[in-house]
Amino acid sequence: MKGIILAGGKGTRLYPMTKSVSKQLLPLYDKPMIYYPLSVLLLAEIKEILIISTPDDIDDYKKLLGDGSNIGVKFTYAIQEKPKGLADAFIIGEKFIGKDNVCLILGDNIFYGSNLSEILANAQKNKGATIFACTVKDPKSFGVIELDKNRNIISIEEKPQNPKSNLAIPGLYFYDNTVIEKAKNVKPSPRGEIEITAINEAYLKENNLNVSMMGRGIAWLDTGTPQNLLKAAEFVEAIQSRQGYYISCIEEIAWRKKFISNEKLKEIGEQLKMTDYGKYLLSLLEEE
Ligand code: DAU
Repeated sequence: MKGIILAGGKGTRLYPMTKSVSKQLLPLYDKPMIYYPLSVLLLAEIKEILIISTPDDIDDYKKLLGDGSNIGVKFTYAIQEKPKGLADAFIIGEKFIGKDNVCLILGDNIFYGSNLSEILANAQKNKGATIFACTVKDPKSFGVIELDKNRNIISIEEKPQNPKSNLAIPGLYFYDNTVIEKAKNVKPSPRGEIEITAINEAYLKENNLNVSMMGRGIAWLDTGTPQNLLKAAEFVEAIQSRQGYYISCIEEIAWRKKFISNEKLKEIGEQLKMTDYGKYLLSLLEEE
C-alpha cells in the first residue's frame, strides 16, 4: 500500500493567512497541519508516501519533511500545476503508485480517536475501494453518503444542496490499483474539478465500494475556516495538556511502530529539547 498526501490548492478561504504560506503548513496548535494526515498514514503502516503540492509550495514541504529517513519512511514529492481536483492525485501519482494499492489523504483532514489504527487496518483488507462515513451536523459542504438499514450504499453526492443523510465522507480513501484508470476517465464537474466522488461512483457501479463508519469515538476535524482552525487547535491543546499524550506526533508513531530505534528518537529529541515537543520525545524513552 502506497500513500499520497494532497497538499496543494490555493487555500483562498483562509486568506490572507494562506497568501504566502501553503494551507497545510499552517500551525495547528504545536505542529504543522500536514503532520496530522501524515500521522494517519503512519498509523496505517504506510511507509512510501507521495506529497503533492503546488509549484510555489513544494520546496517548503521538502524543507519540513526531507526524504523521510528521519522517521524511517520514504517521501517522494510531486507538483500539481493547477488545483484540478482530488482525482488528479492518481494521475500525477501514476508512476509512484506503480502496481500497488493506494491510500489518499487530504492534507487538511485531521482524525483522532481510540480505534483509529484498527479502522485503518481493516480498511486495507477490503477489496476494491474503502471510504469512510462520519456524522456531521451540516453535511452540505462535503461528499455525502446515503446508506440503507443494512449499511448498503444507496448514493454518494458531492456537496448536495439537499443532503440525503448527515453522513459526510472525510478526505481519506483506500483504493486498489484500478483507481489510476478510473481517474483518467473522470470528466470535470460543473465546478471544473475532477472529483473524487466520481471515482467513488465508479467503484459503486462495479459493486466494489466499501464504507466504514467512523463513529463517536473518532474526531474528524475541519480546518476550512479561521474559526474551525482555531477550534481544531483548541481540541489538540485540550487533549494534550489533559492526557499528556501528543496527538499526531510523527516521531512517536514512527518509534512505536518500530520504524525508528530508541537511539534515533533520542537524537531527534535532543535536537528539539528546548521545546515541549522535544521534551515529550525524550520522555517517551524514559517511559520505556
Ligand atoms: O474534507 C473532505 C471533503 O474533501 C470531502 O467530503 C469531499 O467529498 C471532497 O471533494 C473534498 O471537498 P473540499 O471541497 O473540502 O475539497 P477542497 O477543494 O477544499 O480540497 C481539499 C484539500 O485538497 C485542500 O487541502 C486542498 C487540496 N487540493 C484540492 C484540490 C481540489 C489539492 O491539493 N489539489 C486540488 O486540486
